[in-house]
Amino acid sequence: MAQPLNWINFSFLQSPNPLCTGDPLNLVVVHSAVMNRDRRNFMRATYFSKEIQQRYGLSPLFVLGKSRVPESNDLVRKEADSFGDILQIDVEETYHNITHKTRAWISYLNQQCGSQVKYILKMDDDVMMDIHGLQILLDHYRRQKRLVLCRTFVDGVVVRNPKSKWYLSREEYPIDNLGLYCQGMAYVLSGDLLKRLNENLRKVQYLWMDDWYVTHGLLRAANAIFIDIGRHYVSINSERELDSATKGAFKKYRKFFGHFRPSEKYPLAERLRVWSRLEGSTDCY
Ligand SMILES: *[C@@H]1O[C@H](CO)[C@@H](O)[C@H](O)[C@H]1NC(C)=O
Ligand SMILES: *[C@@H]1O[C@H](CO)[C@@H](O)[C@H](O)[C@H]1NC(C)=O
Repeated sequence: MAQPLNWINFSFLQSPNPLCTGDPLNLVVVHSAVMNRDRRNFMRATYFSKEIQQRYGLSPLFVLGKSRVPESNDLVRKEADSFGDILQIDVEETYHNITHKTRAWISYLNQQCGSQVKYILKMDDDVMMDIHGLQILLDHYRRQKRLVLCRTFVDGVVVRNPKSKWYLSREEYPIDNLGLYCQGMAYVLSGDLLKRLNENLRKVQYLWMDDWYVTHGLLRAANAIFIDIGRHYVSINSERELDSATKGAFKKYRKFFGHFRPSEKYPLAERLRVWSRLEGSTDCY
């Protein structure tokens, strides 16, 4: 079969062990980068502590690309040996290569765990999470098939300015509208969708916008049911936005996911401080 545009073949440098042993099997796929070891350790100690893993049947999986620095990849190998929760591909880590990480975990999980998977939560390694709140919601939808829970974007406009970070050429993406898709910082897919995502890997054109690629491109013809839980998200790019997120209507909803940018301004300690301030300002505890 002809391969989609920009297809590259990659191999796995590290793979998780054990995987697919949880019962129920709820996978948390975290897009991370070689250099972000501190973020992974923070997540291992908090969201993915042994206690929480057991309580909710969670199995974390960190998906990494390859560093140009051989010593850094050696450190990843040691980390993978210690924790068994890393999937690393031999693709250089750049912004436009993130979608290859997506291709990697979809094909890997489909092959290794297949239909055992109850749900997949995909998140980035700098996202703050209320894992307990999220579990309440997931429990509510546990029988729902073809489920996508996320902050939805509807009819997103395609950026045609070549200077923009989000620029898409007509060759990459011919139409002027992105349709319905999920913000990539965190989304949940029911496990039954994994098979369909995997089938579509070889049919759908590669697009470096990995959130669109998965939640629109690969879900083509999947009849997925999108539930917008955007009210439970907070994405902050400035202090001013933070202020408004702690006031008015925003306060009514428990926040499951928080994202604070730019990352230089929000090292872990700062993210923790802001996140607890947000949690403290929510009415519904
Ligand atoms: C990828 O691998 C397949 C199967 O081995 C091969 O047919 C194809 O040409 C390769 N594609 C690229 C871009 O290397
Ligand atoms: C993506 O990774 C490949 C393989 O490591 C590399 O050759 C290529 O330059 C990267 N692409 C971009 C856009 O960085």
